[in-house]
Amino acid sequence: MAAYYDSIDEQYKQSKELPFRLHIEAYTYFDLLGDLAEKSLLDLACGEGFYTRKFRQRGAARVLGVDISAKMIELARQQEAKAPLGIEYIVCDVLDLGEIGNFDLVVASFLLNYAQTQEQLLRMCQSVYINLKQGGRFVSINNNSEQPPESYLSTEKYGFIKSISEPLQEGAPITYTVSVDGQKFSFDNYYLSRATYEWAFRTVGFKQIRWQSPIVSTVGVREFGNEFWRDFLDNQPIIGIECWK
Ligand SMILES: C[S@@+](CC[C@H](N)C(=O)[O-])C[C@H]1O[C@@H](n2cnc3c(N)ncnc32)[C@H](O)[C@@H]1O
Repeated sequence: MAAYYDSIDEQYKQSKELPFRLHIEAYTYFDLLGDLAEKSLLDLACGEGFYTRKFRQRGAARVLGVDISAKMIELARQQEAKAPLGIEYIVCDVLDLGEIGNFDLVVASFLLNYAQTQEQLLRMCQSVYINLKQGGRFVSINNNSEQPPESYLSTEKYGFIKSISEPLQEGAPITYTVSVDGQKFSFDNYYLSRATYEWAFRTVGFKQIRWQSPIVSTVGVREFGNEFWRDFLDNQPIIGIECWK
């Protein structure tokens, strides 16, 4: 996993420029996150720090980014050296993270969908939970396991599609193929049902869980029109998650 992300670091970074990233993904994520002022925040699977930097720019008091990929963290640290924001980064597998702090918010965009088994998902959720203070919140953007495979091709116009080569069952790989400026790259997520996610959140101790459908920004509607976003909103390839400790 780490080696694979090491190899697609630049392409992944460029994919953050796709309109759906800004007008739906980031918009939905920040809507869930709310006011970050004075908050301490742990960003799990932070990648090259795309969101990590934004959390600090939006007022979070302390931000710590963790990723399994040394290359991703190297890119994040290069940005930090160029334009220091006071963000700390560490290379670590979230499965093995243990308790490293007591944060107001633990966040993770596109981490949980790398869990290949219920056991791995549970361990990721434990890493989230033990690093949150009592009353703290976990906020996530993730692959939406509830999207029906029949609709996987409907997102091509947004710059990506998903595909599967076997029936959707626990642990089945879901391949994302992303197109940026005519260049394609692929990576796998893994299917675990929403019921398994709910089980993992409750088992580690979360009291309340909420699933948030994708939302389009008003700027996105103005620039592209409602019709353009319809397939995304109807098929919901990604989903927001919010859990309270
Ligand atoms: C799709 S990228 C998302 C990066 C970033 N959160 C974002 O939204 O831009 C997924 C990231 O998860 C990281 N990752 C996957 N499994 C991980 C694990 N077990 N522990 C830590 N990082 C992991 C990968 O290295 C990669 O940087």
